[in-house]
Amino acid sequence: MYDQLLDAAIQHLQELKSRGVRFGEVTPATLSALGQPLPAAPARGPAIPQTSMPPGAGRPLAQSPPPPATPVERRSVTEPAPALSLPGEMPAAAAPAAISPDTKAAAFTDLRQRVEACVKCPHLASSRRKVVFGVGSLEAELMFIGEAPGADEDEQGEPFVGKAGQLLTKIIQAMGLSRDAVYIANILKCRPDTPGQSAGNRKPTPEEMQTCIPFLHEQIDLIRPKVVVALGATAVEGLLGKTIGITKLRGTWKTYRGIPLMPTYHPAYLLRNQAPSEKRRVWEDMLQVMDRLALPISEKQRNYFLK
Ligand code: URA
Repeated sequence: MYDQLLDAAIQHLQELKSRGVRFGEVTPATLSALGQPLPAAPARGPAIPQTSMPPGAGRPLAQSPPPPATPVERRSVTEPAPALSLPGEMPAAAAPAAISPDTKAAAFTDLRQRVEACVKCPHLASSRRKVVFGVGSLEAELMFIGEAPGADEDEQGEPFVGKAGQLLTKIIQAMGLSRDAVYIANILKCRPDTPGQSAGNRKPTPEEMQTCIPFLHEQIDLIRPKVVVALGATAVEGLLGKTIGITKLRGTWKTYRGIPLMPTYHPAYLLRNQAPSEKRRVWEDMLQVMDRLALPISEKQRNYFLK
């Protein structure tokens, strides 16, 4: 199986080379995973086993052994990488072996230091108060990705702590989880500057997102959540490129770096548009996420926002 995987990787690289690609992306996460000893191949090879969700509201949603099979298995080294769902989307080259918690924590410390020292966007580095790296469990099975920090996040150095963030926290809790059990990050780690404006936020530019997104890729590749939720049109655009609008895209599964991705509305949109129908749409997307993670769903949860 290992030989097959190696052959597939070589073939993939040769195809890229024949198309003129000279360089490939290898993250520190992948490098450290490649440095790990290979797990013994199972006799009849299903995926590397994973945790199912423990019952109870607000519980930790973390990956830990010993794990019975769940509907969303982590890909094992014996499985082929999933197909791309959209052009421009770059999957991890080959599913790396599971990263040990210590290796992961060390890689995260290194990553955080690099992010906090980053001055690739000089205009943002000089206007930011705090770098907003990300928060939550490194073992999270669920990751939420927003666009960029706002004023509150810039001040506190934590993503989604303002009004929209408080609503996101409520959504997470309504799913029976807690903020600590998931991972929350943004595409941009610095607040987009607003020169000449005393208040308000602006959308990150495509260039800013392109500059910053390699850091997010490292976070995703280290955590390797089972599901990613992209919050709002800008985050979706930053991750998947320009596609059909968020209204049509939300609620439909995509794949990002080999991970199922659910696009949904940004909580800030729900604050602007209080219609129950819009809340219900986001909730339906979260029910799909819960289904995919094999989280228990009560009748009450199923029927939220239904008349
Ligand atoms: N909006 C985002 O997209 N991210 C945050 O961290 C806060 C608000």
